[in-house]
Amino acid sequence: MPTISEKGQLMPQSPIRKLVPYAEQAVKNGKSIYYLNIGQPDIKTPKVALQAIKNSNIDVLAYSRSEGSEVYRQKISAYYKKHDINVNHDDIIVTTGGSEALLFAFGSIMDVDDEIIIPEPFYANYNGFSTASGVKVVPVISKIEDNFALPPIEAFEKLITSKTKAILICNPGNPTGYLYSKEEIQKLAAIVKKHDLFLIADEVYREFAYDGNTHYSIMQEAGLDDNAIMIDSVSKRYSMCGARIGCLVSKNKSLIQTALKFAQARLSPPTLAQIASEAALDTPQSYFDDVIEEYVDRRNILINELQKIEGVKVAKPKGAFYCIVELPVKNSDDFAQWLLEHFDVDGETVMVAPAGGFYSTPGVGLNQIRIAYVLKKESLVKAVNIIKEALKVYTD
Ligand SMILES: Cc1ncc(COP(=O)(O)O)c(C=O)c1O
Repeated sequence: MPTISEKGQLMPQSPIRKLVPYAEQAVKNGKSIYYLNIGQPDIKTPKVALQAIKNSNIDVLAYSRSEGSEVYRQKISAYYKKHDINVNHDDIIVTTGGSEALLFAFGSIMDVDDEIIIPEPFYANYNGFSTASGVKVVPVISKIEDNFALPPIEAFEKLITSKTKAILICNPGNPTGYLYSKEEIQKLAAIVKKHDLFLIADEVYREFAYDGNTHYSIMQEAGLDDNAIMIDSVSKRYSMCGARIGCLVSKNKSLIQTALKFAQARLSPPTLAQIASEAALDTPQSYFDDVIEEYVDRRNILINELQKIEGVKVAKPKGAFYCIVELPVKNSDDFAQWLLEHFDVDGETVMVAPAGGFYSTPGVGLNQIRIAYVLKKESLVKAVNIIKEALKVYTD
């Protein structure tokens, strides 16, 4: 029998999706499920984006340029300028989601056995992208007690070796909901410059900054042109996860030229979805105002309800739409599965993401879950009540 690669065997399963068979069985058994496990927003995609596809009059659905359509990249650059990010269209490569932008970034800057430092808990697929690129993730732990703020910069410095090529942050954070301050970004900027490293910032949740805080991008930081790589996506901003459009942005010309070779190898990002994404850039500010208001309401209700449960600890998110919740259980994998298999309140249960998969340090985060507040307020209240009732009877 032909054998599977070692790399293939090492590829981690998605911690978010691994409970799906149990959820499917629960539904077959007649239960309804509140899905708090996955960041698929229930917010409507802007009409302008969907209309652009309906209006398109295409005879041949051709490849686009490997770096993405020039008109689209011009419009993205204008969008960034509005956010005080001064980049040109040729600093941008359009990708098949932020996921592909991350893969191109990893492929362009790291060789097998190189190291990347990432504050954990982090977006679980960073593990997958690292394994696919043969790169080692070196975690630096951030704590629920500090709301998952940036760990002390000395903690990063201690981990830097001759193999270290980059620091990767997610801002605002999935799964933490933490929004890094300008001062925290500047500390990171100083350390990457000192050690000649890349700073990759996954900014796919940029618009989702709450409580009057503004997002500070690594691309706004002066003197970081050679080091900064920004990852972006339309998935969450416009609730267009299925469009599969993102981009990689950098002022470092060699990086862009290298990433372009990866882009050429896969020929083109999706043509039709670029039409929708280009139109999405005309989405009025009122759309975002409404969406942000909705998420803030959801967050407040969720945190408020969770804090009422004895033994539960939760970090209050300042951005994105996730939070990490510490539960009075030993193993949240078992708890999440048990919720689906053995528990319901009036025929309803919840699906949560066990947080262990968001850490790469073994054994950390086992009593935590990640909640995505992508459901309506009434559903969130019901879902938290189910967790509360479940904790009353659950035994590890
Ligand atoms: C932090 C973060 N980065 C990147 C992605 C990838 O998004 P996409 O490939 O849909 O653009 C996601 C998706 O959930 C995410 O949460």
